[in-house]
Amino acid sequence: MITSIRLINFKNFVDETLRVGPFTIIVGANASGKSNVRDAFRFLHGIGRGYTLAEIIGGKYGPGGQREWEPIRGATNEIVRQAPSSVGGESSFSLEVELNLNGTPLHYSITVGRFMEGDPDRNVPDELGPFRLLKEELRTESGTVYTTSSPGYYRGGRPPHSLSVKVEESSEPEFQAATDQPVLTQYVMPGRTRRILNDQLSGTLRSVLADMRFWDPLPERMREPSFPGATVLGDFGDNLPTALQEIRADAEQAEILTSWIQELTPMDVEDFEFPFDHSGRVHLTIREKNGKKISAYSASDGTLRFLAVLIALLGKNPVGMYFFEEIETGIHPARQWLLVELIEKQAAKRGIQVITTTHSPDMLTFVNDDTFEHLSVVCRLEDSHDAVIRPVARLPNAQDLQTSQGGLGRLLAENWMETALTFTEGNDKDDER
Ligand SMILES: Nc1ncnc2c1ncn2[C@@H]1O[C@H](COP(=O)(O)OP(=O)(O)OP(=O)(O)O)[C@@H](O)[C@H]1O
Ligand SMILES: [Mg+2]
Repeated sequence: MITSIRLINFKNFVDETLRVGPFTIIVGANASGKSNVRDAFRFLHGIGRGYTLAEIIGGKYGPGGQREWEPIRGATNEIVRQAPSSVGGESSFSLEVELNLNGTPLHYSITVGRFMEGDPDRNVPDELGPFRLLKEELRTESGTVYTTSSPGYYRGGRPPHSLSVKVEESSEPEFQAATDQPVLTQYVMPGRTRRILNDQLSGTLRSVLADMRFWDPLPERMREPSFPGATVLGDFGDNLPTALQEIRADAEQAEILTSWIQELTPMDVEDFEFPFDHSGRVHLTIREKNGKKISAYSASDGTLRFLAVLIALLGKNPVGMYFFEEIETGIHPARQWLLVELIEKQAAKRGIQVITTTHSPDMLTFVNDDTFEHLSVVCRLEDSHDAVIRPVARLPNAQDLQTSQGGLGRLLAENWMETALTFTEGNDKDDER
């Protein structure tokens, strides 16, 4: 499981770390940088999927021409931090993740940059080239698994197309890897055939990074019928009927799912039905206690969105990490504790991780102690406009205020976290002086 992520010169972060737990909640004002953290996780996920740097940042089309991967928001020009008043800002960014793999701590870091490319000798004009790998390292507590040669190997701002990689415990000396893709998913042998690092830790890291989902369920997509066999719920909620049908096939899971959805709505969902249409597509119908049947077309947005979260967390093959944006959208404040309880329970039971951004005070009021430890606020400092990430539990008096009347939710609603943070950051600066 991932225990932290550090962002250096990434989007609006100079050097900030987010602590990650089974259930991680990120709060903060609009445009503070919450979704930028999501972008950082997407970057790591792109690595896990084996894409090149250009593909991770700019999008990837499959062999059939279909878009396989959306670009990182702001893509090439805005992934690296722009300093407020300078022209070009930084030219590279780094991401670092700490993981705990069944007790073994693992540390992975990658630095990626974009520099002038061109060849004055051949009169090729300088222009900003593609992103290139500048540094990458994987290590455990006991030593390095692999590392690239130290930075500073490029002159005149022109990064080379390959760099040396040293694999610890390998009989080979250093080998050359291309700089257009993370070493984790490639390396180039002298024969120029791309191979993959075959040690166990690199392989495990690859699968952890690949095993993430970024969800943004849209009610209109969830209302659509789906084809039998399409049981993977899409990132936008596609295939809801067939994905739900698959969970229903397991009697125990079916009962758990119905009991959760019954808690959510006062209309008493009794069960689900899955009628076919002429084209063979499966529709979703909700059967209420009073015998009334409601098709997904008229089901409420909140019910559908809650169903999507339920399917993610109760479904057959959960991924290691789910990232939701504003998970409370569409859910009544008096029912948001259900989401919190559901996620806390399922994360513990299935060993999965859930990260969500939220603007909802009501979500925070019910978090357990472990989730409280993994609740962070993102805030842009007034003087620099850069964003900082701080665990709410480390803000002054946060522990006392958590148990006070109105609890954490009130603190979010009253902007207390930002105020406390600005105050402490100001004091830190005074201390430095
Ligand atoms: N390359 C960059 N350099 C500096 N700042 C950046 C860069 N890219 C984005 N930003 C800042 O990040 C902000 C967007 O942050 P983000 O989308 O993460 O906000 P958010 O916290 O998710 O807000 P909301 O709650 O409205 O969704 C931009 O308004 C901009 O100020
Ligand atoms: Mg956002």
